Amino acid sequence: MTWLVTGGAGYIGAHVVHAMAAAGEPVVVLDDLSSGDAGRLDGLPGVPLVVGSVRDRGLVRRVLREHAVQGVVHVAGKKAVAESVADPLRYFAENVEGLVALLESCRAKGVGRFVFSSSAAVYGAPDADPVTEDAPCRPLSPYGQTKLVSEWVLRDCATAYGLAATSLRYFNVAGAARPRLGDTGAANLVPMVFAALDAGTPPVVFGDDHATPDGTGVRDYVHVADVATAHLAAARALTAGSAGGTYNVGTGAGCSVRDVLRVVAEVTGADTTPVVAGRRPGDAASVVAAVGRIERELGFRARRGLPDMIASAWTAWRRLQPL
Ligand code: WQD
Repeated sequence: MTWLVTGGAGYIGAHVVHAMAAAGEPVVVLDDLSSGDAGRLDGLPGVPLVVGSVRDRGLVRRVLREHAVQGVVHVAGKKAVAESVADPLRYFAENVEGLVALLESCRAKGVGRFVFSSSAAVYGAPDADPVTEDAPCRPLSPYGQTKLVSEWVLRDCATAYGLAATSLRYFNVAGAARPRLGDTGAANLVPMVFAALDAGTPPVVFGDDHATPDGTGVRDYVHVADVATAHLAAARALTAGSAGGTYNVGTGAGCSVRDVLRVVAEVTGADTTPVVAGRRPGDAASVVAAVGRIERELGFRARRGLPDMIASAWTAWRRLQPL
């Protein structure tokens, strides 16, 4: 059965495509290349890349038909929190309108299996750590809101049309399965630290007065290769007849900003002594995943730790940065 992976030329999407192809799952990619890089799909001869938007209903229906697609892994979307605050309409158009258009095309073509790229951002600042999938969702940014609204749309489609849908709430994704697939954006902690090292400036810590053991923000960093494996497990569960569900994708362990800086220093040999700035508005002190449900129901457990994430991210960063 062929899967359509949207956003499959992006950092996370390309990891999903490589993992599914390596596991023998036939895949076709749709990506508008607005931030994706077709070069990430090199070495995958049997994986067609269709350049276009999920909102192009004619194109999507043609792809679904021509490739006999029976399931969709929807990764395409915008994910920069600060950008979503500055331009919420663009985020709702791309992330929610895009999902609705894609689901309408799926319904028109009888595609009944859907894996959705959601986010821990739906939780906002959770009351408890680790945070379970049943915790209250109080997103703090338009980005997080678009992910929560999208989950609601999927849930209603499951109820009304029998869509088998799984939402995967990614925690903090880092690392690279191979250098060519690395994260070239600098919108999250690890690439931002690398960018500071390249610039010869100290990394910036956003607040060291959080209610955490060392005062800096705690997050659940999860290797992108593990995230990709979670998508494969979710897709196979739907193929096996599961109705789907909502799952955290993390390690269950929290690391502070200082932990990350220490590992970056060990890996790069650089001095990562930071400057401490004020807290970032809306930043939660600690966001760590409860991971029991995905292990019980999908048999998935993240296997890689922070050292592997940082080392693989650093290798990729040095290969991909413009010389
Ligand atoms: C991590 C920690 C910062 C940069 C992301 C996004 C999204 C989502 C996961 C998928 C925080 C601190 C950061 C810096 C710092 N994933 N920090 N100095 O805020 O958890 O949000 O969650 O959808 O990618 O919503 O990730 O990488 O921005 O920050 O001190 O230069 O590092 O305060 O504690 P965040 P982040």
